[in-house]
Amino acid sequence: IGEAALIQRQHARRSQRWLKVAKIYNEFEEECATSNEKLKQIADAMTMEMHAGLASEDDSKLKMLVSYVENLPNGDEEGVYYALDLGGTNFRVLRVQLAGKSGIKSQEFVEVSIPPQLMVGTKQELFDYIATELAKFVGDESDKFHLPPGRQRELGFTFSFPVMQLSIASGTLMRWTKGFSIDDMVGQDVVSELTQAMKRKGIDMHVSPLVNDTVGTLARGRYDNNDVAIAVIMGTGTNAAYVEQAHGIPKWHGPPPKSGEMVINMEWGNFSSSHLPLTEYDTALDIESLNPGQQMYEKMISGMYLGEILRRVLLRMADEAALFGDTIPPKLKTPFVLRTPEMSAMHHDTSKDLRVVRHKLKDILEISNTSLKTRKLIVELCNVIATRGARLTAAGILGILKKTGRDIAKNGETPKTVIAMDGGLYEHYTEYRKHLENTLHELVGDELAECIKLVHSNDGSGIGAALLTASHSRYLEIDGS
Ligand code: GLC
Repeated sequence: IGEAALIQRQHARRSQRWLKVAKIYNEFEEECATSNEKLKQIADAMTMEMHAGLASEDDSKLKMLVSYVENLPNGDEEGVYYALDLGGTNFRVLRVQLAGKSGIKSQEFVEVSIPPQLMVGTKQELFDYIATELAKFVGDESDKFHLPPGRQRELGFTFSFPVMQLSIASGTLMRWTKGFSIDDMVGQDVVSELTQAMKRKGIDMHVSPLVNDTVGTLARGRYDNNDVAIAVIMGTGTNAAYVEQAHGIPKWHGPPPKSGEMVINMEWGNFSSSHLPLTEYDTALDIESLNPGQQMYEKMISGMYLGEILRRVLLRMADEAALFGDTIPPKLKTPFVLRTPEMSAMHHDTSKDLRVVRHKLKDILEISNTSLKTRKLIVELCNVIATRGARLTAAGILGILKKTGRDIAKNGETPKTVIAMDGGLYEHYTEYRKHLENTLHELVGDELAECIKLVHSNDGSGIGAALLTASHSRYLEIDGS
């Protein structure tokens, strides 16, 4: 056949492929749609599940875990305290020096990444690794910070997984999330495991309190601002904590808190509802995950999964519509190869020829020679996925505002609510954060939006734990403070 006919045939094939791509894209976009009406239904479902979890954790999706934190820091805290922050692919050890009303005098930390095999190994391997790094950190400063004689160093432990607290300084791991899977740890007391590892490594420190990262973030936020009542983490995983009235926790049978309040770790990542806009990609991701059937909300909105959702959509387009040519690029078949920071970089590419997208495709997926049209499509996909996640997060926050009566004026006055935010997604994924803020504004309306503020609680999970260590110090009574 002649050259002209060949070219014509090629054109025809290409436009057929694009028709298929467009079909997959449109279906996906439609399924991800989150009208404000739908978000309000989701917020109501969240409020309902909160009530259920506060009544009993047995069958409820939201565990609404009692944190045993009845008082948040008030700014009077003084002294040197340590924190260990474990909850993602890295852990951090911090030393924070507090100077009462003058605030945080100094802070130092080291960050260590956790070798992937330790995330799915045994508890002893993981905790020995952590204790070794901890020993290095405290070993360096033995003469720098003298503690009064007879005092042990105090270490707050941020352990950001679902923990059934038994007291402020003990609790058992209910299950793993975020890609961790260490079977012999489930059901064990995390503080006692850490303490044993510290003993093995010759570290002498008192571990208390045990907190979730959301609780640390809440404490960090409150230290700076009295109106902070809610904390949300948007990072590898997602979760929220807030201050609940003691009488609003029917399942609590312990002594009534003197403050009349109790911080609740919602573990909202496990929220699910028939209103959630679930796609076939979410379902497949869930089935193939380490924790199928769990953390559905988290899997739709948090950093560990957004890039993976994108990969799955691209894979289908490559497979069924030859988006990247006749063969599927082999790298595209590797789960979790496309990470959310890379997705964010592509989403924020403002160059005319989308060269960041081009580079990422080449470097990560070994796909070269993409057309501008293909790259534009990828940016659009990023936008669909991030928008859905951000809007669902806003709905979750509205659910908490409703539960705590912060969505309506009382005696003509609307309470001021500051929400302490932390996590890599919030910090670095600008488009995501913008969508979240705009959606929350849309949902609550102009007037109420004036009274609701999101603030970044920097390093909340680590510093917050150090602050709580100070405000819960076992030496407070001795010091007469
Ligand atoms: C996961 C954990 C939760 C944590 C959140 C954010 O959802 O289960 O405890 O707060 O990630 O790190």
